[in-house]
Order: sequence, then structure tokens, then C-alpha cells
Amino acid sequence: MLLIRNIQTIFQIEEGAPRTRVSGAAMRELPALHDAFLLVKNGTIADFGPMAQCPDAPGAMVEDAAGRMLLPCWCDSHTHLVFAASRESEFVARIEGLSYEEIARRGGGILNSALRLRDTPEEALVESAWERLQEVQRSGTGAIEIKSGYGLSVEGELKMLRVIRALRKRTKMPVKATFLGAHALPAEYKQNREGYLRLIEQEMLPQIAAEGLADYIDAFCEKNFFSPAETARLIEAGARYGLKAKIHTNQFNSLGGIEVCVERGAVSVDHLEVLTDEEIECLRHSNTLPVLLPSAPFFLNDHYPPARRMLDAGLPVVLATDFNPGSSPSGKMPFVISLACIKLRMTPEEAVNAATLNGAAAMEIADTHGSIARGKAANFFLTKPMSSLAYLPYAFGSDVVDRVWIAGAAQQPNKKN
Ligand code: NIG
Ligand code: FE
Repeated sequence: MLLIRNIQTIFQIEEGAPRTRVSGAAMRELPALHDAFLLVKNGTIADFGPMAQCPDAPGAMVEDAAGRMLLPCWCDSHTHLVFAASRESEFVARIEGLSYEEIARRGGGILNSALRLRDTPEEALVESAWERLQEVQRSGTGAIEIKSGYGLSVEGELKMLRVIRALRKRTKMPVKATFLGAHALPAEYKQNREGYLRLIEQEMLPQIAAEGLADYIDAFCEKNFFSPAETARLIEAGARYGLKAKIHTNQFNSLGGIEVCVERGAVSVDHLEVLTDEEIECLRHSNTLPVLLPSAPFFLNDHYPPARRMLDAGLPVVLATDFNPGSSPSGKMPFVISLACIKLRMTPEEAVNAATLNGAAAMEIADTHGSIARGKAANFFLTKPMSSLAYLPYAFGSDVVDRVWIAGAAQQPNKKN
């Protein structure tokens, strides 16, 4: 049992009927309680309330928050955390004028990561991904989705998904696995798209399903990658194996991917840097969540998704990091929240809603994570001393997250600056 006393403010609390997502204008509200305590039992939140009602809790470990703030852990619903090598030579090539798409056309990008992954043993991938998981946890992440997609062969994709399974066994935070075989067409199938789609359908999916290795299916719906029609086919193939869809779409072009995903009940559509009014309207009439990844256009020096238009239309906007070696080599949710405020013109409250409860919704774990509610998992963090919530996105790049608890257990603290 753990009792945290003297919390200046607990944010994202649930009193009454728990919410499963927050949409549009409601995202401006972040329910909070000042001068509060929090009680944890058996890894879950047992109670919270004003300090005036703080229980004695004999035998509990007592922690004095000394006036710091408490938030639920970030729920990062879109990452490519497992990869073999960084790609900073492409970063330099872009500084010198090449585009992300041009680099991909020349065999760099995702295919470059696939080559490196092929020669890296599973154990080495587990170790490097574990380091990254520890790092993002220190910045407050307490639930994560991780994609395959750098394998692009039966063995490679299975290897990546087994790495994700190994990470799930090691950590107490929820880890969702997404099969992204359709991330790019491998070089050996350049003249044989149909052959690769069949490989996904007839070889990869059956084995993945037999081993229970994935929760979702993804595809990169984009010019020079996979078409909306191919994406539709893959979503339907995934569904035959019980996998719901979370799809990369509208990163550089609007090709019709949103409609295809919405029609097929996708859990989320991710990126959306290029989004038409008709597509916003289409999302408005669906349960499909729009996941924004602002560190990708930041890193690629591209334009940002129209978050304000989406919020004004009443959509439940989600924020995630897209942690990957090509377009977002950082998994820090606090930086994503700063970008959301600075570049997408989201308020701090909207951004925190998007990064907590809505992130949990995008992983279908909002009943157990994403807010401070009695009975939910005790995944939360204390901040360093801050004057207000807005300080968090305002002080971009600084480590405002101080101590993180996962399932009620204190994690290794951040090094003091
Ligand atoms: O979400 N856009 C497709 N996939 C990743 C990038 C992958 C890579 O460049 O390695 C993304 O941005
Ligand atoms: Fe991605």
C-alpha cells in the first residue's frame, strides 16, 4: 500500500461515470483536484481526495509530494520502438536538400531499417528496445503501442513481434503489438506487389495469429507505398484473424485512406498531416480516432496536421510520438505535448487529454488506464515543482516529469539536473 500526501494538484481525475474518450470542446476541461492525497493498493488506485480527508492508512508506505503535481502516465498509442539502427545519415541528406520520399525511393528509409534489422539477432533487438522503453518511461509514458514493419519478410516480421512480446513480459506497463507488414514494398517484390500482399495474407497473418503475436494490423497508405484499395484488402485480411486496424494515412497525400478505414471500423487513423474538410466530416460520423504525431513533421520540417479544425469539428484528437529511426527519433511525450501547444495551437488541457485518456482509447485500454480513477491501474507520475499545468508544455525540452509509478511501483527516478 502506498499513500501520497500533499499533492498540489491531481489532474485528469474521474469522479462519477468514467469517460472512455474526450472529444472537441470537452477537451478544454481537465478535471483536477487541489491539495490532495492518492492511495494505491495492489497496483491500482484505491482512493484519492482532498488532504482534509486523508486516511491514516496504517502500514502504508508514505510519500510526501511536497506540493508537486500528479498526472496519469502518458499513453503513447503509436511507436516503432523496435529497430536495429539509427538513420542520421538520412537526416544529414535531408538537411542537404533531399526529401523523405526521395530518400525512400532511393532505397533508404524503411528499406534501410529492414536491411539492418535482418542481420540483428532477436536478443539484441530486445535489449536496445528495452533501453528505449526505460527512457520513454522516465519521461512519463506508462502504456505503449509498438509496431513491427522493419522485417518485411515472414521471419523478420515474426522476429519483431516476438521482440515486442518479450518487452511485454518484462514490463508492467501495457504493451500493444501492431503488425505492420505493409510498411513498404520490399526490394525483392518490386515487380510483384501481388506476391507481397499474398505473402502477408497467406504466410504472415496465419503465423502471427497462431502465436497470438499481434493486437492490430497497420498499413502505410501513401503514394509509392500502399493504395487505399490495398489498405482495404489488408484491413479485411486482418479482420479475418481478429485484428482490428490502426492505419498510417494522410501523411503526405490525401488519397482516400480515411474513408476506407472508417468504413471498415478502424480503431484509429494516424498522421493526418494532410486532411480535407470532407475527411474531417467522415471522421465526425465514426468511432475511428484521429492520432496526431507532430514530432514527425517537426523532424521532417513538413507541415502540421490541422488539429484546431479537428477539435472545432468535435473530434477526439489523440497525440502520440511515432518514435522511429526515420521520421521521429524521439519518444518523449512531453515534447509532443509542447509541439501540440506551439505548432497545433492546442491548449495544455487539450494536449493532456489527447496524450492520456484519448491515447488509452486508441489502444482500447481506457477502462484501465489514461486517468486517475478508483480501480484503474496506478500508472502516474509526479512532476518537478511547477507553477501551473501550462509550465509543462511551456518549458519544452526540460525534464518536468520527476518520478514515475507503474502498477503502483516506483520506477528509477530521473537523474537530477
Ligand atoms: O510513421 N510513415 C511511415 N512510417 C513511419 C516512419 C518509418 C521510417 O521512416 O522508418 C512514420 O513516420
Ligand atoms: Fe508511424
